[in-house]
Amino acid sequence: MTHKFDFLVIGSGIAGMSFALKAADKGRVAILCKTTLEEANTFYAQGGIASVTAPFDDFEKHIKDTLIAGDGICDQEVVEKVVKEAPAQIEELINWGVDFDKDDKGNFDLHKEGGHSEFRILHHKDTTGAEIQKSLIQSIKNHPNIKVFDHHFAIEILTQHHLGETITKHTENIECYGAYVLSERTRNIHTFLSKVTLIATGGIGSSYQTTTNPLVATGDGIAMVYRAKGLVKDMEFIQFHPTALYNPKERPSFLITEAMRGYGAILKTMNGKEFMQKYDERKSLAPRDIVARAIDTEMKNRGDDYVYLDVTHKDPEETKKHFPNIYEKCLSEGIDITKDYIPVAPAAHYLCGGIAVDLNAHTSINRLYACGECACTGLHGANRLASNSLIEAVVYADSAAKHAKATVNNYNFNERIPAWNDEGTSLPEEMVLITQSVKEVGAIMSNYVGIVRSNLRLKRAFDRLEILYQETENLFQRSIVSRDICELRNIINVGYLVIKQAMERKESRGLHYTIDYPEKNHLR
Ligand code: FAD
Ligand code: SIN
Repeated sequence: MTHKFDFLVIGSGIAGMSFALKAADKGRVAILCKTTLEEANTFYAQGGIASVTAPFDDFEKHIKDTLIAGDGICDQEVVEKVVKEAPAQIEELINWGVDFDKDDKGNFDLHKEGGHSEFRILHHKDTTGAEIQKSLIQSIKNHPNIKVFDHHFAIEILTQHHLGETITKHTENIECYGAYVLSERTRNIHTFLSKVTLIATGGIGSSYQTTTNPLVATGDGIAMVYRAKGLVKDMEFIQFHPTALYNPKERPSFLITEAMRGYGAILKTMNGKEFMQKYDERKSLAPRDIVARAIDTEMKNRGDDYVYLDVTHKDPEETKKHFPNIYEKCLSEGIDITKDYIPVAPAAHYLCGGIAVDLNAHTSINRLYACGECACTGLHGANRLASNSLIEAVVYADSAAKHAKATVNNYNFNERIPAWNDEGTSLPEEMVLITQSVKEVGAIMSNYVGIVRSNLRLKRAFDRLEILYQETENLFQRSIVSRDICELRNIINVGYLVIKQAMERKESRGLHYTIDYPEKNHLR
């Protein structure tokens, strides 16, 4: 079956939905998500969304904090754009129904997180993402020009390759005509033709064994663009959140928001001793790369599986009021955070790199945009400042919508795209061929491409992944397409990109730390 939409949006997080709402006054929009509309990284965001809104704060401070966290390689123009456009986008979110907490005087109740010099994080209790996600879902469901396709999995973006042309490397002429999409309900593969396509498929956390990301975060959009010979960059900068609740039986790991450290919680080793003063004068509120590496060092030196986060010295009622979700979750695990220390360990959390885009969120492929976590705008550089990703997503969705609306009528649907061809394929003999490989990718990434890297570990990861790549491509060619095999293929592709780009960076910077090049390269 063929569908035709002016705008095809792949992904229903904050990036995809806010773009859809803005594009829909210019044409018909299809929005796809691979499971339910809710299941996205956005839904799980806790701490909040950074924007200058208070009189004591100003753009220069937010810009400076972002640049410092990014460790010298943020794109200054992008940082200024995001910080300055942020307040208007906060207004848009409020207009769509998002309710940010306010204090008794009616001002925003602002939180502070690592690397921020001011209290500037707007939030809805400790469930900001869920509040945003629910409000946007309500708005898109009410919009007559937006059609939702849930449980629809995008397999590949359509380019000249699907018209029989051989594209072996990136060129300026590649065009995107839409996507092949698997309907999980009917098992049919549909052709979605579009004038303009937006990729908003989120992060890659699920390529790691331990992650805060929901299982849908398999880097599909990045892998699709890479296979279509689009440009992908800065993949070595994987942010590990310092404080995921330690529970080896749970995947994904439950996050203990950094806002809790902003509120006064203190990191301690298993013997109850503070340690962050050894690593940074900002102690528990140093930027994430520093805190995650410090925890990793302490755990390795002591042979411990976790450290503690201590919030027991704070007023119990205040703690429950600010962090009701975390309080309940920990209580369900037998931890009363007002009395007990919380066991925490770092987990893969956020991808700073991704699909290379310009200031309009346009990719290196014509008619194709990307925004949100799958995109690399240059805002984060080598390390993202806390709570800067939701705001980046909504600012760039706005830029993408403006640009796409101005150009959409220059394009026609490409009716020459053939239907998906599954000739010669059959069901894979055994699911274990896929499920075991997924586990192996997770183990390779977590063990060899983690917080601290080395040439030897990266080479080992590369060689192991190469074997899985060959096996999986072989299986893919002869299998009836399923979401499972596509996701496996995608985590292998993004894993390869992370390793390759990490091998190319012969220095330690921000989130990329290697024992073979421990210094920053000042010749850049
Ligand atoms: P997502 O919200 O991840 O949405 C991705 C969408 O793409 C989903 O709908 C998914 O179904 C769809 N999709 C993916 N692949 C396909 C496919 N092949 N076919 C069809 N659909 C597909 N950031 C902050 O700024 N502040 C915070 O407080 C914060 N807290 C966080 C807490 C947690 C636990 C996590 C995991 C992240 C947090 N982040 C936070 C990061 C932030 O939430 C994400 O970067 C952001 O929500 C990403 O939004 P997105 O729209 O790009 O992608
Ligand atoms: C958190 O709440 O600690 C996560 C914030 C973020 O990832 O920006």
